[in-house]
Amino acid sequence: MLKTQTCGELRLSHAGQRVTLAGWVHRRRDQGGVIFIDLRDRWGIVQVVINAENAPEAHSVANRARNEYVLQVTGTVRPRPEGTVNPDLETGEVEVNADEIVILNEAKTPPFYLNQDTKIDETMRMKYRYLDLRRPRMQRNIIMRHKVVKFIRDYLDERSFVEIETPILFKTTPEGARDFLVPSRLNPGTFYALPQSPQQLKQLLMVGGYERYFQIARCFRDEDLRGDRQPEFTQLDLEMSFVEREDIMALIEGLMTAISEQVAGKTPMYKPFPRLTYHDAMEKYGSDKPDLRFGLEAVDVTDIAGQSAFQVFVTNAAEGKPIKVLRAPGWAAQLSGTALRSVTAELETMARAAGAKGLAYMALGEGLDGEVKGPIGKHFTVDQKIALFERTGAEPGDLLLFMSDEREIVYAVIGALRGYIAEQLNLIDPDVIAFCWVIDFPMFYWNAEENRWDPSQHMFTLPVPEDIPLLDTDPGKARGSQYDLACNGYEVAGGSIRIHSREVQEKIFPLIGQTPEHAREQFGHMLEAFEYGVPPHGGIASGIDRLVMVLLGEPNIREVIAFPKTQQGSDIMAHCPTPAEQSQLDELWLRVAEPVKQR
Ligand code: AMO
Ligand code: AMP
Repeated sequence: MLKTQTCGELRLSHAGQRVTLAGWVHRRRDQGGVIFIDLRDRWGIVQVVINAENAPEAHSVANRARNEYVLQVTGTVRPRPEGTVNPDLETGEVEVNADEIVILNEAKTPPFYLNQDTKIDETMRMKYRYLDLRRPRMQRNIIMRHKVVKFIRDYLDERSFVEIETPILFKTTPEGARDFLVPSRLNPGTFYALPQSPQQLKQLLMVGGYERYFQIARCFRDEDLRGDRQPEFTQLDLEMSFVEREDIMALIEGLMTAISEQVAGKTPMYKPFPRLTYHDAMEKYGSDKPDLRFGLEAVDVTDIAGQSAFQVFVTNAAEGKPIKVLRAPGWAAQLSGTALRSVTAELETMARAAGAKGLAYMALGEGLDGEVKGPIGKHFTVDQKIALFERTGAEPGDLLLFMSDEREIVYAVIGALRGYIAEQLNLIDPDVIAFCWVIDFPMFYWNAEENRWDPSQHMFTLPVPEDIPLLDTDPGKARGSQYDLACNGYEVAGGSIRIHSREVQEKIFPLIGQTPEHAREQFGHMLEAFEYGVPPHGGIASGIDRLVMVLLGEPNIREVIAFPKTQQGSDIMAHCPTPAEQSQLDELWLRVAEPVKQR
């Protein structure tokens, strides 16, 4: 090794020891006769001191060194002089008195500071990703990711799971996103699809008798990207035989708790994880992946507000549309008259963007006899107001926000406003991790455009047993055996117990608009396999990128992926995707419909 110690490990106990270090110049300060270099490697940063008098040769080499030069430094560890201890550095009690320095490599001036935690233009970070990856924050994230994956492997290995790899070149899988296709040279005009998940293959592994399978699996989905979505991402994919829903939920709850506590050092806010039905999650939080780090639960006031003199509410209540209130504690008290108007106008814009026709509010004055400000207070009697305040737990100084519309729209508005209000009111502790399960999803959503039901998870999800008869009578009411795990407002895992009876599976296909021929073409291998003794089975998959992002409190999934794609799905460091050579296209029997415009 070109080093005897790492930069990050040096402590007072090393004082007097001769060490050789190797790393990058994090920062260099020239104070005439003395040069200070903060030397950085994967393990941390340590201060190196080069004195012109004692080590003239080393000093002249250090003189040439610049930020991000790669150095090898030999010297003696010593305590820092009194008053110069740096409590912000783990190595802050010591420094290395260098007498030998070798420049292992020079470096151009980086396009952004690697030694400051300032905001850096995202495009620059992506273009020079290898430099971005040197920054301590990225190193922390990528190493945490490694630790999470290693922990998962050990945890499952101890519980008799087998890690099995499944193909990347495969055929369309049923997660419902767009596929990435790969043309086959050997079979002109045909295509593989990259797996959206190993869903079918893991079920076939259950037929294959493995009983406990997992994989750290790369998945590919051609979707519009968001802050928590990448076109290729990694799942902890898992499947078990001879289990019920509770078994899988208990395993994952144990695993997630252990990862949070032992790897991320954060204790989940609720243990055991709360369980919400899909219906309750939507009613209270307007989301099937609610953020439970804060309250802000929507309260139904249809009966009270429907009796008021505000015509919109009266009509809506009569038509069966709900009226709900979100109570922002103390917000009215923080706002002057003009601020109140601009804040409520902004909230109303957000509500409209989510589909609402308006957003009424009541701003409660200080004190019990305080006035109620806002456009609709005058339409409520004193008794109705008192009933409202009791129902919502309102206190003087609160801001009550009212939404009323089709149920789905009300949910969307609650979902859009809750997180924003929590942020504005500082209700979110960034160090808190709050998991919850969401269960009893509807099996299907009605797809009016295509005039069919779409599976809310995928077509292999078993209905909860008592709802199986509903497949014939009222499929919209059937609940699936699906379970999703939400954490801090993100969906970090989802799975289900699978259908293992051909009879039930064949009821699903026509409901979701699959003809028996098409189903056989796409999934014939599954249907056939299931005739050879399929065990009852179920599983789950957790998005590792998302999980690590949430555990670290990072705002974007790109922060935990070494080489992510941009929002446009491209890699601007390596420049891809790119047009193919004509000779490649010929080999693949492809013709591009229109010349690709070079961006
Ligand atoms: P699902 O489609 O819910 O289920 O995916 C499981 C988990 O994968 C993560 N995830 C993503 N992460 C980053 N970028 C994406 N584009 C992306 N899409 C999904 C989420 C999600 O909870 N085969 C089923 C699982 C099963 O039934 O066992 C499946 O893939 O965290
Ligand atoms: P108006 O009486 O028309 O001035 O409306 C009074 C308030 O009710 C305004 O703040 C509107 O944004 C709000 N409002 C209108 N329709 C709805 C609705 N469907 N749900 C909630 N608030 C609404």
